[in-house]
Amino acid sequence: MVKIGNIELPDFPLLLAPMEDVSDPPFRRLCKEYGADLMYSEFISSEGLIRDAIKSKMKLDIFDYERPVGIQIFGGDEEAMAMSTEIVAAVKPDLVDINFGCPVKKVVSKGAGAGVLKDVDLMVKLTEACVRSTDLPVTVKTRLGWDNDSINIYEVAERLQDVGIKALSIHGRTRAQMYKGEADWAPIAKVKDNPRIHIPIFGNGDIDSPQKALEYKNRYGVDGVMVGRASIGNPWFFREIKHFVKTGEILDPPTLQDRIEAVRKHVIWSCEWKGDRTGILEMRRHYANYFKGVDHFKPFRTKLVQLPEKDDVLGVLDEISEHYLA
Ligand SMILES: Cc1cc2nc3c(=O)[nH]c(=O)nc-3n(C[C@H](O)[C@H](O)[C@H](O)COP(=O)(O)O)c2cc1C
Repeated sequence: MVKIGNIELPDFPLLLAPMEDVSDPPFRRLCKEYGADLMYSEFISSEGLIRDAIKSKMKLDIFDYERPVGIQIFGGDEEAMAMSTEIVAAVKPDLVDINFGCPVKKVVSKGAGAGVLKDVDLMVKLTEACVRSTDLPVTVKTRLGWDNDSINIYEVAERLQDVGIKALSIHGRTRAQMYKGEADWAPIAKVKDNPRIHIPIFGNGDIDSPQKALEYKNRYGVDGVMVGRASIGNPWFFREIKHFVKTGEILDPPTLQDRIEAVRKHVIWSCEWKGDRTGILEMRRHYANYFKGVDHFKPFRTKLVQLPEKDDVLGVLDEISEHYLA
């Protein structure tokens, strides 16, 4: 068993990574159905939360069936982080996660996200401010360092543990790498090996097959893995990893019928949560991933990304079913 504060997770838990515009409640519901053990919200701006921005507030929605679930915040100001931790804690997630990994210029230039990897003292202060503001477990997600010449995850892990974080997820890239190159998990293993470190260490970056998940578990000794991109349009990935780790066998991939049914649920839940108009618009980014590799799919995809009405989109799903499965 792996424990984050009082939260009990199974051995080698699988975490759904926080992903802006992806890991919202409808998508999380699917990932939960298919075996994600711990999930995170999209990142939320601490300044936005304090200003009461609608987009930030909506990201606070969590549902009992998805527990344990963490809400992730980012920011570069101690007071704003403390206040937003209180706002987050009031909606009763299972944990609060701090994003010290976002590489985007707009975030980094405000000293937030991966920006603080250049200023570990500030990182520690921001973390302390969050930990002080809630009784919930606080966790952190970060990268190896700012760039290849300044890998400081070893110091970061010790200092953040010392101020009270309850788990650390490490994306095996530097900020300078953005999403390029390959994630390097050797420094993650070194953090895990440090006898001073007693909190769970989760590895993240490039897990794209069940085999790789097991190989990295064995090779790097992490307490669990966090999966991002490979789950997009593929919430079955968690179940596939679990099955492989347990039995050494690869599960059959989801059938086209499974994919159609998952998309149907995703559409319905998105519309329920965001309203039909936004729900349909925001679903458009998902279809290509769900239907990857389906022959001659283009005419259906075109309709899916153009039709504005929910009923028409659901009708296209019926057409897909009739066309390929009848
Ligand atoms: C579309 C997208 C949105 C992301 N948004 C966030 C975010 O809000 N917070 C965060 O900590 N990381 C975010 N990330 C980074 C992922 O959580 C993860 O660290 C990264 O994708 C590497 O893992 P992977 O190789 O399994 O995708 C995002 C990544 C993607 C692809």
